[in-house]
Amino acid sequence: MLTALVIGASGLVGTALTEQLLANDQYTAVHVFIRNQLPLRHPKLTQHPTDFDNLNRSAALIKGDVAFCCLGTTMKIAGSKEAFYKVDFEYANNFARLAYQNGVKSFGMVSAMGANAKSMVFYNRTKGEVEQAVCQYGFPAVYIARPSFLVGNRKETRIGEEIGIWIGNTLDFLIPAKYKNITAAQVAKALIASSLSKKEGVHILESDVLQKF
Ligand SMILES: NC(=O)c1ccc[n+]([C@@H]2O[C@H](COP(=O)([O-])OP(=O)(O)OC[C@H]3O[C@@H](n4cnc5c(N)ncnc54)[C@H](OP(=O)(O)O)[C@@H]3O)[C@@H](O)[C@H]2O)c1
Repeated sequence: MLTALVIGASGLVGTALTEQLLANDQYTAVHVFIRNQLPLRHPKLTQHPTDFDNLNRSAALIKGDVAFCCLGTTMKIAGSKEAFYKVDFEYANNFARLAYQNGVKSFGMVSAMGANAKSMVFYNRTKGEVEQAVCQYGFPAVYIARPSFLVGNRKETRIGEEIGIWIGNTLDFLIPAKYKNITAAQVAKALIASSLSKKEGVHILESDVLQKF
């Protein structure tokens, strides 16, 4: 009898996660915080139109058992490092803070392979910083997925990502498990299974571990 809270529910991983949560008997309610309505109706699903620049206004709604963050953008879409940071760090961190303040006990997030708050690479550093920020709140359980290249049915074309996926698929037999392409559905499955495992503490799930769920 769990209530899930999801941001990034319209994305590649977020869509898979939301569909899997809706199909899971242990989750009886799924609240998604979105900027555009999802083309999805389900008795367990509630959609909350959300202004992420003023997430405090939605604070009273961010109540449940498990919060999931699948939100993120790309430098190309965001247009600048500042805009990227606002989405990948500030929106995610604000959501975690409000969830924690409202008594949410478990937080699952999609970060990325190579996340490291001390990295020289801006993307990896941002992911590492948001991981650290989420962990410092003190949720009883935190599950951080660090996937390699995500595979799934993306609406738009991302050339860099497609090249990475092509190389990954072509050279799959040579690539160590941690660097192999992974489906968005598999990442979602791992996060949900982790949330149901009731294991306390911070759990970093590298891409090879995500593949095993
Ligand atoms: N792509 C990869 O290969 C890869 C690999 C490793 C890790 N990751 C990370 O994994 C996470 C999930 O990736 P994904 O590919 O599933 O993401 P995605 O398909 O790009 O979806 C991103 C989600 O974030 C939301 N979002 C983006 N910008 C927003 C904004 N300004 N305001 C509100 N919501 C916003 C999107 O909502 P809208 O639909 O409203 O835009 C969407 O729900 C991301 O953090 C990403 O960095 C990606």
